[in-house]
Amino acid sequence: MIDLKIARAETPGCNKLIHFNNAGCALRPHSVIDSVTKHLQLEQQIGGYEAETQAKEEVGNFYAQLAQLLNCKSSEIAFMESATRAWQSALLSLGLKKGDEIITAGNEYAGNYLSLLSIARQIGIEIRTIALEADGLIKAENMERYLGAKTRAILITHIASQRGDIQDIKAIGEIAQTKGVCFLVDACQSVGHVPLDLQEIKCDFLFGTGRKYLRGPRGTGFLFARSESTAKYMPPVIDLQSAHWDAAERFTIKEGAARFESFERNLAGQIGLARAVEYANSLGITNIAARIQSLARTMVTRLEAIQGVRVHELSETRSGIVTFSKVGIEAEKLQNQLHQQDVNTSISKRSNARLDLDRDIQCDVVRVSLHYYNSDSEIERVVQLIEHY
Ligand SMILES: Cc1ncc(COP(=O)(O)O)c(C=O)c1O
Repeated sequence: MIDLKIARAETPGCNKLIHFNNAGCALRPHSVIDSVTKHLQLEQQIGGYEAETQAKEEVGNFYAQLAQLLNCKSSEIAFMESATRAWQSALLSLGLKKGDEIITAGNEYAGNYLSLLSIARQIGIEIRTIALEADGLIKAENMERYLGAKTRAILITHIASQRGDIQDIKAIGEIAQTKGVCFLVDACQSVGHVPLDLQEIKCDFLFGTGRKYLRGPRGTGFLFARSESTAKYMPPVIDLQSAHWDAAERFTIKEGAARFESFERNLAGQIGLARAVEYANSLGITNIAARIQSLARTMVTRLEAIQGVRVHELSETRSGIVTFSKVGIEAEKLQNQLHQQDVNTSISKRSNARLDLDRDIQCDVVRVSLHYYNSDSEIERVVQLIEHY
Protein backbone atom coordinates (compact mmCIF):
# COMPACT_ATOMS: atom_id res chain seq x y z
CA MET A 1 0.00 0.00 0.00
CA ILE A 2 1.18 3.51 -0.74
CA ASP A 3 1.03 6.00 2.11
CA LEU A 4 -0.62 8.94 0.35
CA LYS A 5 0.25 11.40 3.08
CA ILE A 6 3.96 10.63 2.81
CA ALA A 7 3.91 10.51 -0.99
CA ARG A 8 2.32 13.96 -1.10
CA ALA A 9 4.55 15.41 1.59
CA GLU A 10 7.53 14.28 -0.48
CA THR A 11 6.09 15.97 -3.59
CA PRO A 12 6.22 19.72 -2.97
CA GLY A 13 4.25 20.61 -6.12
CA CYS A 14 1.15 18.94 -4.65
CA ASN A 15 0.62 21.82 -2.23
CA LYS A 16 0.17 24.40 -4.92
CA LEU A 17 -1.77 22.74 -7.68
CA ILE A 18 -3.54 19.68 -8.94
CA HIS A 19 -1.19 17.97 -11.33
CA PHE A 20 -3.09 15.71 -13.73
CA ASN A 21 -0.44 15.89 -16.43
CA ASN A 22 1.79 12.99 -15.41
CA ALA A 23 1.80 11.57 -18.92
CA GLY A 24 3.42 14.85 -19.97
CA CYS A 25 5.86 15.30 -17.13
CA ALA A 26 5.23 14.21 -13.54
CA LEU A 27 6.05 16.16 -10.39
CA ARG A 28 9.30 14.95 -8.85
CA PRO A 29 9.83 13.92 -5.28
CA HIS A 30 12.27 15.92 -3.12
CA SER A 31 14.92 13.22 -3.29
CA VAL A 32 15.17 13.45 -7.09
CA ILE A 33 15.58 17.21 -7.14
CA ASP A 34 18.06 17.04 -4.24
CA SER A 35 20.24 14.48 -5.98
CA VAL A 36 20.35 16.53 -9.19
CA THR A 37 21.16 19.75 -7.34
CA LYS A 38 23.80 18.03 -5.22
CA HIS A 39 25.61 16.76 -8.29
CA LEU A 40 25.49 20.12 -10.07
CA GLN A 41 26.94 21.74 -6.95
CA LEU A 42 29.69 19.14 -6.82
CA GLU A 43 30.52 19.89 -10.47
CA GLN A 44 30.69 23.55 -9.58
CA GLN A 45 33.02 22.89 -6.66
CA ILE A 46 35.45 20.29 -8.03
CA GLY A 47 34.92 20.13 -11.81
CA GLY A 48 32.67 18.04 -14.05
CA TYR A 49 34.94 15.08 -14.77
CA GLU A 50 36.14 14.93 -11.17
CA ALA A 51 32.52 14.99 -9.96
CA GLU A 52 31.77 12.12 -12.32
CA THR A 53 34.53 10.03 -10.76
CA GLN A 54 33.13 10.71 -7.29
CA ALA A 55 29.60 9.87 -8.44
CA LYS A 56 30.49 6.41 -9.79
CA GLU A 57 28.26 4.67 -7.29
CA GLU A 58 25.20 6.84 -8.02
CA VAL A 59 25.70 6.34 -11.75
CA GLY A 60 26.00 2.57 -11.22
CA ASN A 61 22.79 2.78 -9.21
CA PHE A 62 20.97 3.93 -12.36
CA TYR A 63 21.64 0.60 -14.10
CA ALA A 64 20.97 -1.47 -10.98
CA GLN A 65 17.66 0.22 -10.15
CA LEU A 66 16.29 0.06 -13.69
CA ALA A 67 17.37 -3.58 -13.98
CA GLN A 68 15.45 -4.30 -10.77
CA LEU A 69 12.35 -2.46 -12.01
CA LEU A 70 12.38 -4.21 -15.40
CA ASN A 71 13.69 -7.61 -14.26
CA CYS A 72 16.67 -7.62 -16.61
CA LYS A 73 20.48 -7.33 -16.34
CA SER A 74 22.21 -4.00 -15.62
CA SER A 75 24.35 -4.56 -18.71
CA GLU A 76 21.17 -4.53 -20.81
CA ILE A 77 20.41 -0.90 -19.90
CA ALA A 78 21.76 2.18 -21.68
CA PHE A 79 21.27 5.74 -20.49
CA MET A 80 19.85 7.91 -23.28
CA GLU A 81 18.94 11.56 -23.55
CA SER A 82 15.38 10.73 -24.63
CA ALA A 83 13.18 7.84 -25.61
CA THR A 84 13.17 9.06 -29.19
CA ARG A 85 16.94 8.89 -29.47
CA ALA A 86 16.83 5.46 -27.85
CA TRP A 87 14.51 3.78 -30.32
CA GLN A 88 15.94 5.57 -33.35
CA SER A 89 19.39 4.20 -32.44
CA ALA A 90 17.94 0.75 -31.90
CA LEU A 91 15.96 0.66 -35.14
CA LEU A 92 18.77 2.06 -37.26
CA SER A 93 21.16 -0.50 -35.78
CA LEU A 94 19.26 -3.10 -37.84
CA GLY A 95 20.88 -1.72 -41.00
CA LEU A 96 17.59 -1.24 -42.85
CA LYS A 97 17.53 -1.43 -46.63
CA LYS A 98 15.11 -0.40 -49.35
CA GLY A 99 12.07 -2.69 -49.36
CA ASP A 100 12.42 -3.78 -45.71
CA GLU A 101 9.13 -3.71 -43.84
CA ILE A 102 8.38 -2.34 -40.39
CA ILE A 103 5.12 -3.22 -38.68
CA THR A 104 3.52 -0.77 -36.32
CA ALA A 105 0.05 0.01 -34.96
CA GLY A 106 -2.56 2.73 -35.31
CA ASN A 107 -1.88 4.09 -31.83
CA GLU A 108 1.79 4.78 -32.56
CA TYR A 109 3.21 7.90 -30.93
CA ALA A 110 3.27 10.83 -33.36
CA GLY A 111 7.03 11.42 -33.02
CA ASN A 112 7.73 7.75 -33.70
CA TYR A 113 5.48 7.66 -36.73
CA LEU A 114 7.05 10.82 -38.12
CA SER A 115 10.49 9.21 -37.74
CA LEU A 116 9.25 6.12 -39.56
CA LEU A 117 7.88 8.28 -42.38
CA SER A 118 11.21 10.05 -42.62
CA ILE A 119 13.18 6.78 -42.67
CA ALA A 120 10.76 5.49 -45.30
CA ARG A 121 11.41 8.56 -47.42
CA GLN A 122 15.18 8.36 -47.03
CA ILE A 123 15.80 4.61 -47.24
CA GLY A 124 12.67 3.33 -48.96
CA ILE A 125 11.38 1.04 -46.19
CA GLU A 126 7.70 0.11 -46.13
CA ILE A 127 5.55 0.89 -43.10
CA ARG A 128 2.77 -1.59 -42.46
CA THR A 129 0.35 -0.18 -39.91
CA ILE A 130 -2.12 -2.45 -38.13
CA ALA A 131 -5.43 -0.64 -37.65
CA LEU A 132 -6.88 -0.45 -34.15
CA GLU A 133 -9.93 -2.59 -33.39
CA ALA A 134 -13.10 -1.20 -31.84
CA ASP A 135 -11.55 -1.71 -28.38
CA GLY A 136 -8.60 0.53 -29.28
CA LEU A 137 -6.20 -2.43 -29.39
CA ILE A 138 -4.57 -4.50 -32.07
CA LYS A 139 -5.17 -8.23 -32.06
CA ALA A 140 -1.89 -10.08 -31.74
CA GLU A 141 -3.20 -12.91 -33.90
CA ASN A 142 -3.89 -10.44 -36.74
CA MET A 143 -0.21 -9.59 -36.76
CA GLU A 144 0.56 -12.87 -38.51
CA ARG A 145 -1.12 -11.45 -41.63
CA TYR A 146 1.26 -8.53 -41.71
CA LEU A 147 4.43 -10.55 -41.26
CA GLY A 148 6.36 -11.49 -44.36
CA ALA A 149 9.81 -12.32 -45.65
CA LYS A 150 10.72 -8.63 -45.67
CA THR A 151 9.56 -7.82 -42.14
CA ARG A 152 12.53 -6.52 -40.18
CA ALA A 153 10.91 -5.15 -37.06
CA ILE A 154 7.72 -4.63 -35.10
CA LEU A 155 7.38 -1.31 -33.25
CA ILE A 156 4.54 -1.10 -30.73
CA THR A 157 3.62 1.59 -28.22
CA HIS A 158 2.51 -0.10 -25.02
CA ILE A 159 0.30 2.70 -23.70
CA ALA A 160 -0.39 5.43 -26.21
CA SER A 161 0.08 9.09 -25.47
CA GLN A 162 -3.22 10.23 -26.99
CA ARG A 163 -5.46 7.78 -25.13
CA GLY A 164 -4.70 5.27 -22.48
CA ASP A 165 -5.58 1.86 -23.88
CA ILE A 166 -2.96 -0.79 -23.11
CA GLN A 167 -1.64 -3.01 -25.92
CA ASP A 168 -0.94 -6.68 -25.20
CA ILE A 169 2.83 -6.59 -25.66
CA LYS A 170 3.29 -10.03 -24.14
CA ALA A 171 1.17 -11.69 -26.83
CA ILE A 172 2.83 -9.62 -29.59
CA GLY A 173 6.27 -10.51 -28.23
CA GLU A 174 5.47 -14.23 -28.39
CA ILE A 175 4.68 -13.89 -32.10
CA ALA A 176 7.73 -11.74 -32.80
CA GLN A 177 9.96 -14.29 -31.07
CA THR A 178 8.41 -17.25 -32.90
CA LYS A 179 8.90 -15.49 -36.24
CA GLY A 180 12.39 -14.26 -35.36
CA VAL A 181 11.51 -10.61 -35.96
CA CYS A 182 13.05 -7.79 -33.94
CA PHE A 183 10.48 -6.37 -31.51
CA LEU A 184 10.75 -2.82 -30.16
CA VAL A 185 8.46 -1.62 -27.37
CA ASP A 186 7.75 2.00 -26.60
CA ALA A 187 7.25 1.98 -22.83
CA CYS A 188 7.34 5.77 -22.42
CA GLN A 189 3.90 5.90 -20.84
CA SER A 190 4.05 2.54 -19.11
CA VAL A 191 7.39 2.48 -17.30
CA GLY A 192 6.89 3.48 -13.66
CA HIS A 193 3.15 3.13 -14.26
CA VAL A 194 2.50 -0.62 -14.72
CA PRO A 195 4.76 -3.63 -14.10
CA LEU A 196 7.11 -4.50 -16.98
CA ASP A 197 8.83 -7.86 -16.64
CA LEU A 198 11.38 -8.35 -19.38
CA GLN A 199 11.60 -12.06 -18.72
CA GLU A 200 7.96 -12.26 -19.78
CA ILE A 201 7.90 -9.59 -22.50
CA LYS A 202 9.82 -11.09 -25.40
CA CYS A 203 11.17 -7.91 -26.93
CA ASP A 204 14.63 -7.11 -28.24
CA PHE A 205 14.45 -3.45 -27.30
CA LEU A 206 12.32 -1.46 -24.88
CA PHE A 207 12.71 2.24 -24.31
CA GLY A 208 11.35 4.91 -22.05
CA THR A 209 11.74 8.42 -20.85
CA GLY A 210 12.57 9.70 -17.37
CA ARG A 211 10.18 12.60 -16.95
CA LYS A 212 6.79 10.88 -17.09
CA TYR A 213 5.58 8.13 -14.75
CA LEU A 214 9.10 7.49 -13.46
CA ARG A 215 9.14 11.03 -12.05
CA GLY A 216 12.73 11.66 -13.14
CA PRO A 217 14.35 14.78 -14.58
CA ARG A 218 13.71 16.07 -18.08
CA GLY A 219 16.27 15.23 -20.75
CA THR A 220 16.70 11.65 -19.55
CA GLY A 221 15.68 8.30 -20.96
CA PHE A 222 16.84 4.73 -21.35
CA LEU A 223 17.11 1.84 -23.75
CA PHE A 224 16.84 -1.82 -22.79
CA ALA A 225 18.73 -3.97 -25.31
CA ARG A 226 18.44 -7.71 -24.72
CA SER A 227 21.86 -9.30 -24.42
CA GLU A 228 20.96 -12.26 -26.67
CA SER A 229 20.12 -9.91 -29.56
CA THR A 230 22.42 -6.92 -29.06
CA ALA A 231 25.52 -8.46 -30.60
CA LYS A 232 23.71 -8.66 -33.96
CA TYR A 233 23.11 -4.93 -34.10
CA MET A 234 25.52 -2.16 -34.97
CA PRO A 235 24.58 1.28 -33.58
CA PRO A 236 24.23 3.86 -36.38
CA VAL A 237 26.72 6.19 -34.69
CA ILE A 238 29.43 5.41 -32.18
CA ASP A 239 31.86 7.33 -30.01
CA LEU A 240 34.42 6.55 -27.34
CA GLN A 241 31.75 5.43 -24.88
CA SER A 242 30.24 2.87 -27.23
CA ALA A 243 33.44 1.57 -28.83
CA HIS A 244 37.13 1.02 -28.18
CA TRP A 245 39.76 2.28 -30.66
CA ASP A 246 42.08 -0.75 -30.83
CA ALA A 247 44.54 0.44 -33.50
CA ALA A 248 44.67 3.25 -36.07
CA GLU A 249 42.22 1.51 -38.43
CA ARG A 250 40.50 -0.85 -36.02
CA PHE A 251 37.86 -0.58 -33.34
CA THR A 252 35.71 -2.86 -31.23
CA ILE A 253 32.12 -2.10 -30.33
CA LYS A 254 31.35 -2.50 -26.64
CA GLU A 255 29.38 -5.49 -25.40
CA GLY A 256 25.89 -4.98 -24.06
CA ALA A 257 23.65 -1.96 -24.13
CA ALA A 258 26.64 0.34 -23.55
CA ARG A 259 27.16 0.24 -27.31
CA PHE A 260 24.16 2.56 -27.65
CA GLU A 261 25.37 5.13 -25.12
CA SER A 262 27.12 8.46 -25.72
CA PHE A 263 30.18 9.66 -23.89
CA GLU A 264 28.73 13.08 -23.15
CA ARG A 265 25.59 13.08 -21.10
CA ASN A 266 23.59 14.86 -18.45
CA LEU A 267 25.21 13.20 -15.43
CA ALA A 268 23.05 15.07 -12.91
CA GLY A 269 20.00 13.92 -14.85
CA GLN A 270 21.18 10.32 -14.89
CA ILE A 271 21.74 10.43 -11.12
CA GLY A 272 18.32 12.03 -10.64
CA LEU A 273 16.69 9.33 -12.76
CA ALA A 274 18.48 6.66 -10.71
CA ARG A 275 16.95 8.18 -7.59
CA ALA A 276 13.50 8.33 -9.21
CA VAL A 277 13.62 4.65 -10.16
CA GLU A 278 14.87 3.78 -6.68
CA TYR A 279 11.89 5.67 -5.27
CA ALA A 280 9.50 3.70 -7.51
CA ASN A 281 11.17 0.43 -6.52
CA SER A 282 10.83 1.29 -2.85
CA LEU A 283 7.07 1.87 -3.24
CA GLY A 284 6.66 -1.25 -5.38
CA ILE A 285 5.44 -1.10 -8.98
CA THR A 286 2.42 -3.32 -8.29
CA ASN A 287 1.31 -0.92 -5.53
CA ILE A 288 1.85 2.02 -7.86
CA ALA A 289 -0.13 0.39 -10.68
CA ALA A 290 -2.99 -0.63 -8.39
CA ARG A 291 -3.38 2.87 -6.97
CA ILE A 292 -3.25 4.57 -10.38
CA GLN A 293 -5.80 2.14 -11.74
CA SER A 294 -8.14 2.73 -8.85
CA LEU A 295 -7.88 6.52 -9.25
CA ALA A 296 -8.48 6.20 -12.99
CA ARG A 297 -11.61 4.10 -12.41
CA THR A 298 -12.97 6.76 -10.08
CA MET A 299 -12.14 9.49 -12.58
CA VAL A 300 -13.92 7.64 -15.41
CA THR A 301 -17.00 6.88 -13.32
CA ARG A 302 -17.26 10.50 -12.18
CA LEU A 303 -16.70 11.89 -15.68
CA GLU A 304 -19.25 9.57 -17.25
CA ALA A 305 -21.84 10.81 -14.79
CA ILE A 306 -21.56 14.37 -16.14
CA GLN A 307 -24.07 15.22 -18.82
CA GLY A 308 -22.46 15.76 -22.22
CA VAL A 309 -19.10 14.28 -21.24
CA ARG A 310 -17.69 11.35 -23.18
CA VAL A 311 -14.66 9.31 -22.16
CA HIS A 312 -12.57 8.13 -25.10
CA GLU A 313 -10.70 5.08 -23.82
CA LEU A 314 -12.09 2.07 -25.62
CA SER A 315 -10.92 -0.93 -23.60
CA GLU A 316 -11.88 -1.96 -20.09
CA THR A 317 -8.43 -2.18 -18.52
CA ARG A 318 -7.63 1.23 -17.12
CA SER A 319 -4.33 3.03 -17.24
CA GLY A 320 -3.78 6.41 -15.59
CA ILE A 321 -4.47 8.17 -18.90
CA VAL A 322 -8.09 9.23 -19.26
CA THR A 323 -9.24 11.32 -22.20
CA PHE A 324 -12.62 12.99 -22.57
CA SER A 325 -14.57 15.72 -24.29
CA LYS A 326 -17.61 17.77 -23.32
CA VAL A 327 -20.25 18.47 -25.93
CA GLY A 328 -19.99 21.95 -27.42
CA ILE A 329 -16.74 22.86 -25.63
CA GLU A 330 -13.36 23.02 -27.30
CA ALA A 331 -10.70 20.96 -25.55
CA GLU A 332 -8.26 23.85 -25.46
CA LYS A 333 -10.78 26.17 -23.81
CA LEU A 334 -11.57 23.61 -21.14
CA GLN A 335 -7.90 22.93 -20.52
CA ASN A 336 -7.20 26.66 -20.17
CA GLN A 337 -10.08 27.08 -17.80
CA LEU A 338 -8.77 24.23 -15.63
CA HIS A 339 -5.28 25.70 -15.77
CA GLN A 340 -6.60 29.02 -14.47
CA GLN A 341 -7.94 27.09 -11.49
CA ASP A 342 -4.49 25.55 -10.86
CA VAL A 343 -5.31 22.24 -12.47
CA ASN A 344 -2.77 20.91 -14.95
CA THR A 345 -4.13 18.71 -17.71
CA SER A 346 -3.12 18.43 -21.35
CA ILE A 347 -4.63 17.99 -24.77
CA SER A 348 -4.40 15.02 -27.08
CA LYS A 349 -4.35 16.69 -30.42
CA ARG A 350 -6.07 15.12 -33.35
CA SER A 351 -3.16 16.30 -35.51
CA ASN A 352 -0.81 14.19 -33.35
CA ALA A 353 -2.90 11.06 -33.71
CA ARG A 354 -3.72 10.83 -37.40
CA LEU A 355 -4.30 7.07 -37.26
CA ASP A 356 -6.27 7.15 -34.04
CA LEU A 357 -8.22 10.26 -32.96
CA ASP A 358 -8.33 11.48 -36.53
CA ARG A 359 -10.22 8.38 -37.60
CA ASP A 360 -13.04 8.34 -35.06
CA ILE A 361 -13.27 11.38 -32.76
CA GLN A 362 -11.99 13.98 -35.22
CA CYS A 363 -11.32 16.65 -32.64
CA ASP A 364 -8.82 17.42 -29.90
CA VAL A 365 -9.64 15.92 -26.50
CA VAL A 366 -8.66 16.77 -22.93
CA ARG A 367 -6.24 14.31 -21.31
CA VAL A 368 -5.98 13.82 -17.57
CA SER A 369 -3.16 11.55 -16.48
CA LEU A 370 -3.16 10.43 -12.88
CA HIS A 371 -0.33 9.29 -10.66
CA TYR A 372 -0.36 7.57 -7.29
CA TYR A 373 0.23 10.84 -5.43
CA ASN A 374 -3.04 12.29 -6.77
CA SER A 375 -6.03 12.02 -4.47
CA ASP A 376 -9.76 11.37 -4.56
CA SER A 377 -10.44 14.91 -3.36
CA GLU A 378 -8.42 16.28 -6.28
CA ILE A 379 -10.54 14.19 -8.65
CA GLU A 380 -13.67 15.50 -6.98
CA ARG A 381 -12.55 19.11 -7.42
CA VAL A 382 -11.64 18.64 -11.08
CA VAL A 383 -14.91 16.86 -11.83
CA GLN A 384 -16.83 19.74 -10.24
CA LEU A 385 -14.94 22.24 -12.39
CA ILE A 386 -15.66 20.25 -15.54
CA GLU A 387 -19.31 19.83 -14.64
CA HIS A 388 -19.81 23.52 -14.07
CA TYR A 389 -17.90 24.80 -17.06
C1 LIG B 1 4.25 7.06 -26.12
C2 LIG B 1 5.42 8.01 -26.24
N1 LIG B 1 6.50 7.63 -26.94
C3 LIG B 1 7.57 8.43 -27.08
C4 LIG B 1 7.60 9.68 -26.51
C5 LIG B 1 8.82 10.54 -26.72
O1 LIG B 1 9.63 10.55 -25.60
P1 LIG B 1 10.89 11.56 -25.57
O2 LIG B 1 10.30 12.92 -25.63
O3 LIG B 1 11.60 11.25 -24.30
O4 LIG B 1 11.70 11.26 -26.75
C6 LIG B 1 6.50 10.13 -25.78
C7 LIG B 1 6.48 11.48 -25.21
O5 LIG B 1 5.47 12.07 -24.96
C8 LIG B 1 5.38 9.27 -25.64
O6 LIG B 1 4.29 9.64 -24.96
